[in-house]
Amino acid sequence: MLGAGTNPGRRWPNAGLLISPRDLVSDWPGSLRLAAPLPIPLFAHWARIEPGDKVLRWQDRGVSSHAALRGKLRAIPVLATQPLPFPVEAAPDDPSILFVSWLDDAIDAGIAEPHAMTLSTCGPDGSPYARTLILKDLDAEGWWFGGQTGSPKGRQLASVPAAASTFYWPTVGRQVRVRGPVRQADPERSLADFWDRSAGSRAVALTSRQSTPAPSLAQIDAGVRESQRIAAEADPTRPTGWTLWGVAATDIEFWQADPGRQHMRLRYTRAAGGDWLRDLLWP
Ligand SMILES: Cc1cc2nc3c(=O)[nH]c(=O)nc-3n(C[C@H](O)[C@H](O)[C@H](O)COP(=O)(O)O)c2cc1C
Repeated sequence: MLGAGTNPGRRWPNAGLLISPRDLVSDWPGSLRLAAPLPIPLFAHWARIEPGDKVLRWQDRGVSSHAALRGKLRAIPVLATQPLPFPVEAAPDDPSILFVSWLDDAIDAGIAEPHAMTLSTCGPDGSPYARTLILKDLDAEGWWFGGQTGSPKGRQLASVPAAASTFYWPTVGRQVRVRGPVRQADPERSLADFWDRSAGSRAVALTSRQSTPAPSLAQIDAGVRESQRIAAEADPTRPTGWTLWGVAATDIEFWQADPGRQHMRLRYTRAAGGDWLRDLLWP
């Protein structure tokens, strides 16, 4: 049952209470099912775990059930931020100026890796893919990021040369979405970016097997050591498979959280002549 002292066996803490192993019946390795209803406190809520409800276990982190997880997810504060001012009427004509100013605000707010973004791409069948990447540069031609041409994202961009990048800066309650066609940088620029990387990143970048299944940890280890050797001996003029891609933005949306949920949204759309049109969007 609940609480300490009811079972001499091992206990897993859960949201401040202890669940005895007697409350759990084994289901499959890594998962347990609950034998009897179990109320558990979750922040301001009580969640009730029903018999048969799947209980998740991962190493010694404790147990949780789907009911508990749902309660936990709902209890996590969203946008409990210190919003910054966003005077949309005074927004600059060029969205990249606004982006750089928001990036500076994110840096000043101490947000870790504020240049990290979610890059979304499409496969040839239209199926979506997304992953985190680092913004490497921003200029009149694009929002630049780097990766291997042979990676899944490289193949997706070769068949559907378009992407969306999303930045989220939680402390200041801001999101920026950038969308547009993608083009590859010329080889010199990509090579310069490769050699700008740390020795460890260069070694990983030389592995042409990114995202393919690996037979074992030992083989990954051996492969990384081999890449380190190749990277150390690499000819700085030789192509590496590493490339920069640039998103030539056609839409950029700036989103600023508001504690009263009247979030401020400003979208820039590139017109045929190259000028930027601006629209306020409903939150
Ligand atoms: C913070 C962070 C930064 C990353 N930066 C890069 C990057 O700049 N380039 C890159 O190819 N992968 C980067 N990755 C790894 C990618 O998220 C991804 O695992 C990898 O590119 C393979 O993606 P793909 O299989 O879709 O091609 C980064 C991951 C994280 C968490």
